[in-house]
Amino acid sequence: MKVKNICCIGAGYVGGPTMAIIAQKSPEINVTVVDINEKRIAAWNDPDVEKIPIYEPGLAEVVAEARGRNLFFSTDVDAAIDAADMIFISVNTPTKTYGMGKGMAADLKYIELCARQIARVAKNDKIIVEKSTLPVRTAEALKRILDNTGNGVNFQILSNPEFLAEGTAVTDLHKPDRVLIGGDLDTEAGREAIQALVDVYGHWVSDDNILTTNVWSSELSKLTANAFLAQRVSSINAMSELCEVTEADVQEVAKAIGMDSRIGPKFLKASVGFGGSCFQKDILNLVYIAKSFGLNEVADYWEQVILMNDHQKRRFAAKIVKTLFNTVSGKKIALLGWAFKKDTNDTRESAAIYVADYLLNEQAEIVVYDPKVTKEQILADLDYLGTRSEEENRKLITVVNSAQEACKAAHAVAVMTEWDAFKTLDWEAIYEGMLKPAFLFDGRRLLDKEALTALGFEFYAIGS
Ligand code: NAD
Ligand code: UGA
Repeated sequence: MKVKNICCIGAGYVGGPTMAIIAQKSPEINVTVVDINEKRIAAWNDPDVEKIPIYEPGLAEVVAEARGRNLFFSTDVDAAIDAADMIFISVNTPTKTYGMGKGMAADLKYIELCARQIARVAKNDKIIVEKSTLPVRTAEALKRILDNTGNGVNFQILSNPEFLAEGTAVTDLHKPDRVLIGGDLDTEAGREAIQALVDVYGHWVSDDNILTTNVWSSELSKLTANAFLAQRVSSINAMSELCEVTEADVQEVAKAIGMDSRIGPKFLKASVGFGGSCFQKDILNLVYIAKSFGLNEVADYWEQVILMNDHQKRRFAAKIVKTLFNTVSGKKIALLGWAFKKDTNDTRESAAIYVADYLLNEQAEIVVYDPKVTKEQILADLDYLGTRSEEENRKLITVVNSAQEACKAAHAVAVMTEWDAFKTLDWEAIYEGMLKPAFLFDGRRLLDKEALTALGFEFYAIGS
């Protein structure tokens, strides 16, 4: 079967970029991305392509190429479902904030709503592709909803988890390490559905990089990949604390172990802690699944990755307080960076939020500069924690338009996000404008310790 019309439900960080690339590479397929968030869809349709709602290097160019040709963004979910022969579900799957599994399990209500809507609308056979990250065996629940509430049409369910990282989404999608497709390998219809999706990716991904497997292995591989990646960060961050008390340097340690081809050099950068919408959520989900099968040792093992990460964020904030003579009350602290990593405007679970919250509890005055994050977002992130009133957050936090301005008359500066531009700031001028001693905390190992110490900074970097 040749796919002619694709619909993707969810125009977020995954749905938007993924569909833009499919449309770019497959001009004969019509791709419609739908969302219930009208503001988001309006932004995707903004005539000024630089105003699309997600900042990713290279994405505006891809959207400019395909939008209006075979890439469409719409709020008419029913119409797009009706017209499609393949439907990607790419909605959010946050950690549950209520009821059974609260704080651990994935909240699948958005997924279920999609399934019920598809079942209600579909008048011909369709292939449903799970793009969202889901607990193992979710496809089974989807199938039961679709088969029991539908109009008697046939649905094939595929799992096609996404491995892109934010900030590098376009290159990750253009050149994926692998595309993983899980489906029903035991039936002719299942194999045909798998092949239909293989053919879509086949427009630009070579056969060797497209892996097909059964649905359950595919679903679990996604959670496993994120758990392993996050575990590497927590492992190197654990070593960073040991380095700080032993005069070892975590970067030297990472280099030395990374040259072992069994370990490899990537993802060994010590930091103020991993953030992002997925690592924590997916590990908590894994822990919950393990516990629900009575596998308590497995659950405890993975939970430690999160506990280590929480410790790293707290430890960094505590280090600032301790270094500033055990009090930051009334002191101005500049945070450079708020996004959870460079080259994205996404702030979900960013370490900066938690460090700021800790310092605000210590009565610090926080000034933030991030090249891509808005003031509204920064305040919303803090309000969401619910630690103090919205008025208080607005009183204690200032958001400014340049790093220079943020650091003016500050007692301390902390680098929270590894934006390249922070490397080449006029650090001499920043030093001049700060209160002395001028403390600089590098939570990303971004800056040149020797040069900055020579300028006069009291310099602290994670892991050395
Ligand atoms: P997101 O919150 O940015 O986007 C999800 C979108 O789905 C939202 O715009 C929301 O309005 C929309 N939506 C929810 N319910 C809907 C419905 N019933 N009908 C229409 N639209 C609906 O989320 P995201 O970051 O794109 O993540 C989506 C999924 O992909 C998650 O499961 C996540 O774990 C996974 N994932 C994310 C990344 C990443 O880098 N962000 C990478 C790989 C996988
Ligand atoms: C991560 C995975 O890398 C993707 O493969 C996956 O698709 C995605 O999660 C997902 O499922 O959402 P992402 O969170 O966008 O991607 O970004 P990463 O580059 O993985 O960084 C995550 C966090 O870890 C960031 O805060 C980053 O600064 C931190 N990190 C990463 C480190 O502190 N050190 C490192 O060496 C690497």
